[in-house]
Amino acid sequence: MTTALTVQHDVCLKAHNTLGFAVNAEHFVAVADESELEQAIALADENDWTVFLLGGGSNVVLTQNLTGLVIQITDTSAQYESMPNGNTLISVGAGKPWHELVLETLDHDLTGLENLSLIPGSTGAAPVQNIGAYGVELESRLHSVRAYHRPSATWQTLNPSDCAFGYRDSIFKRNPGHYFITRVMFELNDHIAPVTHYGGLEKALLEAVSTSPTNAQMTPVQQAKLISQTVIGIRQSKLPDPAVLGNAGSFFKNPVVSSDHASRLRVRYPSLVSYPQPDGREKLAAGWLIDESGLRGTVAGPVGVHKDQALVLVHFGEGSGQDLMALAQRVITLIQANFDVTLEIEPIVL
Ligand code: EPU
Repeated sequence: MTTALTVQHDVCLKAHNTLGFAVNAEHFVAVADESELEQAIALADENDWTVFLLGGGSNVVLTQNLTGLVIQITDTSAQYESMPNGNTLISVGAGKPWHELVLETLDHDLTGLENLSLIPGSTGAAPVQNIGAYGVELESRLHSVRAYHRPSATWQTLNPSDCAFGYRDSIFKRNPGHYFITRVMFELNDHIAPVTHYGGLEKALLEAVSTSPTNAQMTPVQQAKLISQTVIGIRQSKLPDPAVLGNAGSFFKNPVVSSDHASRLRVRYPSLVSYPQPDGREKLAAGWLIDESGLRGTVAGPVGVHKDQALVLVHFGEGSGQDLMALAQRVITLIQANFDVTLEIEPIVL
């Protein structure tokens, strides 16, 4: 059955990106299912349009009008199915808001996604940057990803090992325009071991548990719900709500340097924040580097460095992606000069 797609033209994307930049899409179409996605891609091929799949718009910097066709997937369905091993397989439409999914799985008494509470964006975008927070990365909870692979014009189901996941990185991110993710599958149960070792989370949890009358006999599900509430509290205390203040979460990746480099920096900066990596190198807290350089709270016209978390760049309104990129460049230059460290931008810049 073919349905007629409704393609709109010169559509303002201000409400479709969490930074709130007012650029236009030359053509825009919302698709409800895989057949409509195939039709949209065929339409783009016929017209020689480039194609960009936009998720929740929480990890893109739109610096100019987008030529070609912008596609948005509207499928928010989630199917829960018991597996022979007793776990639950959840198949989620790419359009479902991520945080809604986290809360829904907890309502189903399923554990595993709680540390990833309140991350903005859609479920379909989550594997692209392998979202991570408070000691958990998406790849560890993922069952598989269903995607249309444009170069081969085939539908593929990718297991986590096929996705080439890294820190905020994946095969999807490294090959822009190749994969169109339509569903994301998770395998969860009611007793995934809670991850509480992350500094800020551990401290906040201890405070929450000490004031909770039921702390002694908490089930894994109760613990997961408490972790979720605690993560929501931490995020709300230092990360700006995109609905109130435009932002794309962390703007830079935490850079990884050799242990020699980190040791040299520690001599000059004894309070340097770093995390040892399995390969012997060290990951530095970019937020700390930017903060130490005196940039936290910087206002540069319509954009700035967030006052509570220096890793987040914000848009106060009426600014552009170019304004933000100019500020990003200023940050990169200063961090290079101060620490001999090259910061890498985390969101996708278009
Ligand atoms: N810090 C400062 N000043 C700042 C910001 C941070 O001194 O302005 C210090 C903190 O005191 C802390 C350290 O830097 O010692 C790390 O800060 P935080 O715990 O806030 O985490 P982060 O490394 O800045 C990363 C992720 C976040 C994620 C948190 C929690 C990246 C690029 N960012 O931030 O992810 O929520 O850890 O796990 O890895 C995102 O990707 O959009 C995102 C928000």
